[in-house]
Order: sequence, then structure tokens, then C-alpha cells
Amino acid sequence: MKYFLDSGKIDEIKYAYEMFGIDGVTTNPTHTKNSGKPFMTVVQEVADFIKEAGLEGIDKFPVSFEINPHLLTWQEMVEAAKKVSSYSPNYVIKIPCCEQGLIAAKKLEEVGIPTNVTLVFSPSQAIQAARLGAKFVSPFIGWKENSGDDGQTYVKDIADIYAIYGYETEIIAAACRNGRQISEMATAGVDIVTAGLQVYRDSFYHPF
Ligand code: E4P
Repeated sequence: MKYFLDSGKIDEIKYAYEMFGIDGVTTNPTHTKNSGKPFMTVVQEVADFIKEAGLEGIDKFPVSFEINPHLLTWQEMVEAAKKVSSYSPNYVIKIPCCEQGLIAAKKLEEVGIPTNVTLVFSPSQAIQAARLGAKFVSPFIGWKENSGDDGQTYVKDIADIYAIYGYETEIIAAACRNGRQISEMATAGVDIVTAGLQVYRDSFYHPF
């Protein structure tokens, strides 16, 4: 199972790559805002790091960037995605799982821009992401569990459906909050988990 770091801070990304070999990065508008830098500066910094570290290539070190979540039409989403994507061959565009977002993801995949369909809260949403050929799908585990749902059963259903139909979309278990969730994602058969640096640190440690 791969580990992606959920962060918009270049120092954290470099540290996590050098010290414990993360396999990729996911970020979102909150993370880029927390970096204290403008969004496009972060986009440029991460692209520079990918080059310097010799990590160019979408399957070597994919980095998901979310476009402006306030865009309402697929045309606006596609335009914003193309701009971000032009900064690095490793960039994957996070697209919200809504009607306009799913159209945008399909259009982007058709022109070779990889997508990560995000904010996924049901297996039926994950099926459509796979049907349209998204590179990644991001079911949100922490959010589901905060509302009382069982994240493991939820994501295992997605993994089972993908296996039955041979869908190639990779499952990123997103918003993982602790080591239990990470290990349950592994049992459920996801391809990747994404979590913040401290969640990984805590998961590497046990007090007894
Ligand atoms: C993952 O792709 C997202 O960036 C992230 O997991 C969203 O969740 P959070 O901001 O609630 O942690």
C-alpha cells in the first residue's frame, strides 16, 4: 500500500520524502492556504522539487492539486485544470464529485490530463469515477467516520466493485486520521492512503 502525504507545505513534503519515502502527495485549498503562500507559488515549488529530486513521471510521484472549489461549470474546471497541469507531468487534478465535476473529469481524461475524483462519500459515486476513467478516486474516510459510518466497510465495497469489473482507477483512502484507519484501509484493499505528517508519525509509534 502506498503512502501519500496530504500537505501543501514544501518543507513537509521534502522531509516526508527524504525521511520515510512517501510515494506521492495530495493537497487541497486548506493545505495550500496553511502554507502561507499563494496557490500558484505552491504549484511552482512542488514542480521544482519533483524535477530536482529526479521524480518526473506520473507513476513515480503523483501530486494531486485541487482546483478552485468555487468553480461551477465543467468548462471553468477544465480551464483551471489545464493551467495547473502544465506545471508538471506529475500533476493530477482533483475534481469534486458532482455532476459538473464528473463531466470535467471525463473531458480531462480524454485529453490525457489525469484526474483524482475527490469528495467521494458513496460506492455509487466511486463507480462513476471509475467508469469515466479517472486515475484516482478519493473516498473520504475520516469524514465518514466522524458522521458515524464505518470507513472500512465503505471502502471495501468500493475495492470489491473495482475488482469485479476490473476498473483501473486507484483508490486513495483520503482524510485518514489515525493508525487504526490506515491499517483498516490496508485490510480493505485500497491502493493508497493519504494523511497528514503527524498522522503518519503517530502511526509509527506505540507507547507500550
Ligand atoms: C485528500 O485528498 C484531501 O486533501 C484530504 O484528505 C481532505 O481531508 P481533510 O482536509 O479533512 O484532511
